[in-house]
Amino acid sequence: MSHKNYWYIACETKELTKNRFIKFELFNEPYLLYKKEDGSLACIKDRCLHRGFPLSQGLNSKESFQCGYHGWKYDENGNLINIPSLSSQAKLPRVCLRSLPVITHQDYVFVSTSEKAEIPKPFSIPQLRTKNWGHIRLKNLFESPVTQCLENFLDVPHTAWVHPGIFRKNKSEALRLKSKKTGSFVTTSYHGEKNNLGFFSKFLNPTNQELIHTDTFFSPNISCVFYSAGPHRKFYITSQAIPTGDGRTWVFTDLTYNYGIWNTVLKPIIRWHAQKIIKQDQELLRVLYENTKFANETKLNTEADLPLLWIAGLRSYLEKGIDLKQTKNVKGEVEIRV
Ligand code: FES
Ligand SMILES: [Fe+2]
Repeated sequence: MSHKNYWYIACETKELTKNRFIKFELFNEPYLLYKKEDGSLACIKDRCLHRGFPLSQGLNSKESFQCGYHGWKYDENGNLINIPSLSSQAKLPRVCLRSLPVITHQDYVFVSTSEKAEIPKPFSIPQLRTKNWGHIRLKNLFESPVTQCLENFLDVPHTAWVHPGIFRKNKSEALRLKSKKTGSFVTTSYHGEKNNLGFFSKFLNPTNQELIHTDTFFSPNISCVFYSAGPHRKFYITSQAIPTGDGRTWVFTDLTYNYGIWNTVLKPIIRWHAQKIIKQDQELLRVLYENTKFANETKLNTEADLPLLWIAGLRSYLEKGIDLKQTKNVKGEVEIRV
């Protein structure tokens, strides 16, 4: 199994209703996503077979794509159907642009570059469109590779430094971290956490009880953070990191939350805070990547980095094409201070 054999988000389904096509990039390759005449979705490589000009910049009618360089024309399935400069006696090459399979799930359009017939189902965001649960969706481009983004999304100690006051304050409180890597995912639970959640504390934990906090990494590219302080005090943050290109990652974030009667009132506040936190991480990761992209020192890890090590480990297994089911399951427990 490699990174390439999974479904990845290309865009939100609603983006396709307004546009003839959507351009996106996956694993450094440009693609076009569009609706065919019969209403089904299709995805082709956005690169003309002649000299490679992007078809998205050509003359594109409802049922064909015509390149803007020499006018080669492709039908809606990506088959080459006309070369204007060719004499009528000459043979038209029977060629087709690469196309990717497309599916929709939870209002996202997913594509896959897999060559295999079986592609694992896309991840399902918890409590999406569930009664009494609110939902916010955000889309942000990170100038950082997928692994670095995911490490950040599941990194608890950084929150006090990068998001002081909004997410956590640096109180140097002890937390017990229990983490395990099972098959293709890593689950980490935090124990002894009460009110160090910045802005969220007031709403999340009015009775100051111990929080349930579980972070999960799902291979190859998803993090899901869960907090609960009892009924009507729960939220999930699901982040799907898309391998756009070298050092570029689109991140689709879904916040699903249950604050009971506060759901509607809190929506704009949660959105504002979530976007602010994401902006801080975006800037941090941009600077981090800039400073490390040519680095050749090995990173120094400590036991406080435990879950992140396993996440990076799983992703490097995938890079090497190793079947994650065959990898060793591990677990550990350590104390950290936040
Ligand atoms: S590059 Fe597209 S027609 Fe020549
Ligand atoms: Fe962060």
